[in-house]
Amino acid sequence: MKRIEYLPWTTGVLQQCLHLHDSDSLGALDLDLTARCTMAACIYCDSKPAVGSEHPGELGAKETAYLLESASKLGLKWLYSCGLGEPFEDERFTVLIEKALSLGIRVSLFTNALAINARKADWLKRKGVCLIVKLDSLNETTFDRILGRHGAARYIYKAVENLRNAGYGHDRTYATDLAFSIVPTKLNLPDIPDVIRYAIDCNAFPSVGELEQAGMVLAKKHFNDLALDVSHLAGLKADVERLLWEGYKRPICPSIIAGVHIDNVGNCVVDRETGLNCKWFLLKEPRVKVIGNIRDDTMSELVRKARAYRKSCFAKNKRQLTKFRSVDYVFGGCGGSPAEIIPLAQKHL
Ligand SMILES: C[S@@+](CC[C@H](N)C(=O)[O-])C[C@H]1O[C@@H](n2cnc3c(N)ncnc32)[C@H](O)[C@@H]1O
Ligand code: SF4
Repeated sequence: MKRIEYLPWTTGVLQQCLHLHDSDSLGALDLDLTARCTMAACIYCDSKPAVGSEHPGELGAKETAYLLESASKLGLKWLYSCGLGEPFEDERFTVLIEKALSLGIRVSLFTNALAINARKADWLKRKGVCLIVKLDSLNETTFDRILGRHGAARYIYKAVENLRNAGYGHDRTYATDLAFSIVPTKLNLPDIPDVIRYAIDCNAFPSVGELEQAGMVLAKKHFNDLALDVSHLAGLKADVERLLWEGYKRPICPSIIAGVHIDNVGNCVVDRETGLNCKWFLLKEPRVKVIGNIRDDTMSELVRKARAYRKSCFAKNKRQLTKFRSVDYVFGGCGGSPAEIIPLAQKHL
């Protein structure tokens, strides 16, 4: 079948962002919005219990607008919001999208979609926002269990309908503006082929990302109850490839190499051992290094310091990096697979 590609993760966008990175500009920004997420309590949430309600000191609307203006001056093309809480529960959400658009910046968000009614879906489509919607199962009972809220799954199914009615997934000629986030666990393993078929029907990219040992998985000691062993993952991969295409994998997120990552309180954070911008790609509880804060440093200073830190990691931690490089996940985690990310980052130091 024809490959479905999620526009923000296409090779074209990756190359564009890497090109900007190589010319000392900034193609991508990973921005954590609020830590607040009150409508779901996912059994595997990598961010809870540490976050879940709003944090004191989160960036305000003016600070965020300033941040986007500064990043735009450095060439910013894509804003990614991948982690922490639920973006639609962020009070700055509408203003932030309008601001990004006025600066010619495209936006890609992970969301549980619980707040996406028909009106919101139309608005998002008009603004050209790309979305990765949580969709672990089409079995309502199983999905409710994963979401930790009775009745929540129904709202997500309805939100996907709203998005399709608004025109999401309609462009079948190039890349799609819709993806589904699927975390394979023992709970939803038998349901995943149906989610893949539904994704094909919706022209949505099915993004299967492996379970991270982080957040609630560790706090509630859920790993053994949830994690699939390698043989089950490999079996699932074979099923997914039969439905989609051979060599299916989660693509590299441009921001992990070509971006900077600013968290909800304005800290510029990188993975401590590699200096890469995603703290989740090793599928473990994140270990981050704070490079500076947007309240104290200029954006160009943060970009410069983050890149210098990565260079020093690649020079100092060679053995560790070789070890990470040999980690080839079955599907890949958030941001892609280290076996591909590390050599690509090395080429673009
Ligand atoms: C932390 S959430 C934040 C955005 C939004 N609240 C959501 O759930 O989509 C971002 C993505 O990480 C995924 N995720 C959360 N915990 C995870 C874990 N332990 N392992 C793998 N993916 C996880 C979620 O399913 C979601 O697709
Ligand atoms: S995974 Fe997303 S929707 Fe689920 S609890 Fe965590 S932040 Fe909320």
